[in-house]
Amino acid sequence: MTPIAGALALAAVASASNGGISPVGPVTPNGHRITDAYWLILGITGAVFLLVEGTLLTFVIRYRRRGRPRDAEPEQIHGATRIEIVWTVVPVLLLAVIVSFVFYKLPGIKNSPAAAGNNASITVEAHQFYWLFKYPGGREAINVLTVPRGEVVNLDVTAVDVAHSWWVPAFGGKIDAIPGKTNHTWFKAEKAGLYPIRCAEFCGIQHTAMRGVVNVMRFPTAKADWRKELGREAFTGVCASCHGFNGEGLIGPAIASNPTLQDPKALGDLVRNGSGKMPAVGSTWDAKVINALAGYLKTKFGGAGGG
Ligand code: CUA
Repeated sequence: MTPIAGALALAAVASASNGGISPVGPVTPNGHRITDAYWLILGITGAVFLLVEGTLLTFVIRYRRRGRPRDAEPEQIHGATRIEIVWTVVPVLLLAVIVSFVFYKLPGIKNSPAAAGNNASITVEAHQFYWLFKYPGGREAINVLTVPRGEVVNLDVTAVDVAHSWWVPAFGGKIDAIPGKTNHTWFKAEKAGLYPIRCAEFCGIQHTAMRGVVNVMRFPTAKADWRKELGREAFTGVCASCHGFNGEGLIGPAIASNPTLQDPKALGDLVRNGSGKMPAVGSTWDAKVINALAGYLKTKFGGAGGG
């Protein structure tokens, strides 16, 4: 009875799909492979769990003391060859199934498809506390990675300050973003849509603010306004993480009326080098990013701030 109740509870949780124990529905080939491995391992370990716990409870109830004297000795036996062979061989076979399945799936998860191996990579640069994307051809973006649907996208993942971890749950696995090292991963999104990015490594006080989104477009994206977008992304994704969106101040002071915002050179020095408690959030930013940010701040705060 108890194992059945347990199985029902598990099934109910599993079918809850979001917020339950099932992974986010995969939308990439590597995501599908990882999810397959997840369900196989969960199935085997779940069955073992129910078997072991069910047997345990059965024995606890069935062979309880029932008023026998405390010092009554049960029948003394030594060895049970057949059972010992079974409980050795069965786990070995189960582990062999899991290992074979994982090694069968692994190359397809790790390696970008051969034909697309030479596609230019997008660089993913993790910072406290945002993602900077550098596309082939010079375009840059913060926290929003825009890619076409159905194409293999290769990523070179690195970090600037501390270790972070790149994770798009709908795409499957995570990959470490480590200062001074470049890790490679890839994806091919099958469905257009917006897929949240999470940093999966505790990287500092605003770790949970280190969010982004992959925007999978049905058609190649229009390039017209990316500089304007970049300025907005730099402010909302970098400055606002600590200073608040309307200058209301989180761990950083309110900045809406600070004259530095209206002075591109001072702004560049500040974000590239940091100042006091403020880290050098833009230590790797080139003129494109600084100018985009300065342009955005001018339109957002230029009129009201008044210098
Ligand atoms: Cu970056 Cu956590």
